[in-house]
Amino acid sequence: MIGIFDSGLGGLTGLCELRRRLPLCDIVYFGDTGRIPYGTKSASTIIRYSMQDMAFLSTFGIDAALVACGTASSTALDELRQRYSIPIFGVIDPAAKDAVAVTRTGRIGVIGTPTTIKSGSFERAIKHLDKSIEVTAVACPLFVHLVEDGFTTPGDEVTRAAARRYLEPLAGKVDVLILGCTHYPIISWAIEEALPGVRLISSGRSAADALADAVGKTQSGSGSVRCYVSDSPEGFEAAAGVFLDGIDVGKAEQIDISKY
Ligand code: DGL
Repeated sequence: MIGIFDSGLGGLTGLCELRRRLPLCDIVYFGDTGRIPYGTKSASTIIRYSMQDMAFLSTFGIDAALVACGTASSTALDELRQRYSIPIFGVIDPAAKDAVAVTRTGRIGVIGTPTTIKSGSFERAIKHLDKSIEVTAVACPLFVHLVEDGFTTPGDEVTRAAARRYLEPLAGKVDVLILGCTHYPIISWAIEEALPGVRLISSGRSAADALADAVGKTQSGSGSVRCYVSDSPEGFEAAAGVFLDGIDVGKAEQIDISKY
């Protein structure tokens, strides 16, 4: 069984990719909807939250985990790996590897939450693979709220204007852009409009691929998916549908994450 967590529903984009790659693996998903956003909080708070999220998932006896959150992957991965002996995948290294593999100009853009960008995690991972690559990183704090609040319909004027404003510094400078937050693929239409011709790398997809490649052979369940959230599950199905591209994950159950 694979455990996945995110600060909210954005990690469902990773779940979706994993389900496509490994249709028979059993998945348990936790979205910390009661404490989102993580992306504006300090590293120490995110580490504490991530430890609790992982402790909850561990009660299911998971044998691998996906930290489907750019912010938690940027700040808490080392601590999680020190505490748990199962394979734990974050979104940083897999996305960096995919971006380095496809850039033609050697100029890669990264967008993410303020905490992710401040951490320099993607830049480090890219430079580790190829020192010569030029990285431009931009924080896009409003994007998570636009996605969680449903401003996702292609053509939405608010999202379009936010994307134009945030992405202006990247226009004409990069040929590949890492969506360093798992919420962002939902508004990729606005990102593509603001940066025409730029190749987008979904960090959740890269991470799900890396995880599937590493542990796929050991996962043979019944393809079950259980979802848990830390705030009211009311409206979960409708909200989750935006991220799931037709995959049915049923209802979510609310848990008290402070107990873990
Ligand atoms: N999904 C989280 C990430 O990938 C962003 C949401 C948040 O700020 O909590 O960073």
